[in-house]
Amino acid sequence: MGGEAEIWTLQGHAQLHEAMSAPYRILGGGSNLVVADEGLSERVIRLGGEFAATDLEADPQLSTSEQLVTGWVGGGVPLPGLLRKLQRLGYSNLEGTVGIPAQLGGAVWMNAGTRFGEAFDGLHSLEIVSPEGTRTVTPAELPWSYRDSGIPRNHIVTRVRLKLRPSTPELVQEKMDAADVARKGQPKNRTPGCAFKNPTLPSGERLGAGKLIDEAGLKGSRVGNAMIAPEHANFIVNLGGASAADVHALLALIRSRVGVDMQLEYELWP
Ligand code: EPU
Repeated sequence: MGGEAEIWTLQGHAQLHEAMSAPYRILGGGSNLVVADEGLSERVIRLGGEFAATDLEADPQLSTSEQLVTGWVGGGVPLPGLLRKLQRLGYSNLEGTVGIPAQLGGAVWMNAGTRFGEAFDGLHSLEIVSPEGTRTVTPAELPWSYRDSGIPRNHIVTRVRLKLRPSTPELVQEKMDAADVARKGQPKNRTPGCAFKNPTLPSGERLGAGKLIDEAGLKGSRVGNAMIAPEHANFIVNLGGASAADVHALLALIRSRVGVDMQLEYELWP
């Protein structure tokens, strides 16, 4: 759903400077994103080429028997394939993000996750490029939290070094299976993923966004061809031909009917 945009797929660092010389937005896997029906005036940067390369060799300078630090893994690498490789190698820490249809850079930028883990569980350091230049930071240098990396919006996570724990393929697979079971009740239709973050009360208690929307009686609510999923109320599904405006209307309905401040997990462009 949504409008059109001009996509710039970058093959390497040499193209970053020119790509960032005019207003731009950065696309990861696009799975948690709703683009306005009017389309975008900014160019959209995607990472390909050398940004989709994966170096999982352990760095002997940084690795110990308990901790394994990889070479650079590109921000444009699809997360599902990366997790499969890590599972085969018996490397643990990132398997809690199984099933998220992201690219690594996007998953890091929004600290994507499930109840079983998040992107920041497996990061040693990140290369971040912005119009001001290139910097390498560790997670400790970022104000990251639940579903948020603290990285500014126009900064690109170009590549990442993973911090993993040596395990076995069988144990990593077991954890992936456990996290996968939690998805069984999620809708099969096309969807931009979870709409809202799970809200945290001032007391520190975390509530389920899906549960709150469900308790407000909104499952099955429909605007145009978008619907709040009957299977799980934090998902808005496209029944076919939905517009971004339909989704915006459902988001507004949810906010007006749920008596808790609901923060979007979606990216809404523009
Ligand atoms: N629930 C309801 N009604 C609903 C939906 C959920 O009562 O319509 C109840 C469930 O029965 C359960 C509780 O709410 O007792 C929590 O639901 P669930 O186990 O589905 O987890 P969640 O917190 O809603 C999170 C992530 C999902 C991830 C799942 C599974 C967030 C906002 N959501 O959902 O992530 O897939 O755990 O690990 O953190 C995403 O980020 O895009 C996403 C879908």
